[in-house]
Amino acid sequence: MRTAAEFNLYYTAPDPWHISHARFRDKVLRRCMKSFIRDKSVLELGCGEGHLTQTVFRKARSVVGIDISDVAIARAKSLELPNARFESADFLQASFENYDVIAAIECVNYLSLPERGAFLEKVAREHAGKILLISGPIVDYTRHFGHKRLMHEFTTLGFKSLRFYNLSLYWHPPSSRIIANLIKLPLAHTLLDWMPEQMVYQRLYALRAPKPA
Ligand SMILES: C[S@@+](CC[C@H](N)C(=O)[O-])C[C@H]1O[C@@H](n2cnc3c(N)ncnc32)[C@H](O)[C@@H]1O
Repeated sequence: MRTAAEFNLYYTAPDPWHISHARFRDKVLRRCMKSFIRDKSVLELGCGEGHLTQTVFRKARSVVGIDISDVAIARAKSLELPNARFESADFLQASFENYDVIAAIECVNYLSLPERGAFLEKVAREHAGKILLISGPIVDYTRHFGHKRLMHEFTTLGFKSLRFYNLSLYWHPPSSRIIANLIKLPLAHTLLDWMPEQMVYQRLYALRAPKPA
């Protein structure tokens, strides 16, 4: 896991991952997640500066956004979103209890493998029988976040995979860049889930945590 100080360094300047320009990702995430989050109480892990809280989670009844970077959290608070409050904390230490949905969008991929195992076990314990939405890059270079490995961990720990959605395509090799751009044309996003596995960059998993025995 990276530390609060390391993530604060990323946030020296606002929007270090150019998330505010990722309008296509916002659109796809909104479509995939709307049925899971509408009128629900959501715990948004690794919320950063609150970009998704504002653009994607605005239909949730309430959102608690948690991020390890207090610099990012200060910016999120300044948005003054009516349905959200923000806290600076390591999500591995935060309580997962009493939310309808936990959303972990592009943040669990920063954990080591043992930390990810501990994270999933914590979800199973404190969020039993409820919805977990988790996304990250599943491409080859992040081998430990690959699809097969994730599915293996989910099923081993008793999570039920409800659905997964492709969020974006990888820009390598350069020929893929053309398709990655074409998919952004109106309605072309409907083809995302039909793309071959090796072209997929980010994927969202909708899971149900195991029910208590
Ligand atoms: C790539 S950004 C993603 C931000 C946002 N979820 C999005 O997708 O637009 C990853 C965020 O996760 C946060 N993060 C990483 N590990 C964390 C942890 N253990 N606890 C809380 N936040 C964490 C980082 O500070 C950073 O803001």
